[in-house]
Amino acid sequence: MSERRGEAYWQAVALSADIGRRPKRILFDGAPVVLFRAAQGVAALFDRCPHRLVELSTGKIVGGEIECPYHGWRYDGEGRCTAIPGHVGAMPHYRVRRYAAIERDGVVFVSSGTPQGEPYLHCMQGRDIIVRRVRSSTQSTVIDAAENILDATHTHFTHKGLLRGLTSKRHLVRVEVTGGEGWVEASYTGEERQQGLISRLLEGERARTIGRFRHPGIAELEYWGKEGLVLATTFHLRQADERTVEGVGWLIGRRQGLLGELKALAFKPLFNVALQQDRRVLKSASDNARFAPQALPVIGPLDFLRRDIAAIMEGRVPPAASEPQVHEIEL
Ligand code: FES
Ligand SMILES: [Fe+2]
Repeated sequence: MSERRGEAYWQAVALSADIGRRPKRILFDGAPVVLFRAAQGVAALFDRCPHRLVELSTGKIVGGEIECPYHGWRYDGEGRCTAIPGHVGAMPHYRVRRYAAIERDGVVFVSSGTPQGEPYLHCMQGRDIIVRRVRSSTQSTVIDAAENILDATHTHFTHKGLLRGLTSKRHLVRVEVTGGEGWVEASYTGEERQQGLISRLLEGERARTIGRFRHPGIAELEYWGKEGLVLATTFHLRQADERTVEGVGWLIGRRQGLLGELKALAFKPLFNVALQQDRRVLKSASDNARFAPQALPVIGPLDFLRRDIAAIMEGRVPPAASEPQVHEIEL
């Protein structure tokens, strides 16, 4: 069977902490999938009992197998039916579709193909860092949600006071856009220290901010100070169904003893406030987009990454790979 190119990659779908003694149902490429802990580690099966189509995720885990709540048929981590209670004699061979699944660094990855390599985790892999893992669900599309994370210009309005100060003072900033196969990034230099609450609490002087998009739906931000990394986030986004984007991500801070731990503690609730503000505007746009006439979004002069993100998501090399750009904007 030939596999469509692009199917053989890992997608982050849940936090390991979400998969405990009970099965968890997710939507994966529009299909219901049940995650549970099998004998061989985390398992992902199509969430539908072949017998009468009941959701397996409403059943329970027995000895590393999932038991359907209707007639008690059981399935192992490979999706093989292992028990039909009351049946005497040879077992018929029934099975449920199984997805490849692995856990890395507290996150569960699933694929509808058979990826060869390891999943990409986050932009500070291998460094001495503090991480907090987060999960979110937003009414939007992956391209809109990714662009939102990487868009520096909305912060003055959507996050006034939190990521930006209360005044409308702006600074001239240089933006370099570069890219390659499967990625694009915008690097901002010349920014003064930002006046928002988060920056005041957590940052020293800022030297460079980088926003990056990676195939298939990974958005990451890096804040670099004079002495190196200050903060970073990597968010893995995926379209769960037509109107829902699920995100799993890492909030990353530099390890700096107790201070680092305290900052990391403060960061998560503040980050959640920003996330709420973003979810509100994204939901507004998603609801509003349904009205006729259908409209394509305007790509404005400051929307540096939109075309490149679209290209990467379609499996093309982004325009920035062959034509890096330099812009000056007031931020
Ligand atoms: S519907 Fe699942 S066992 Fe009958
Ligand atoms: Fe935002």
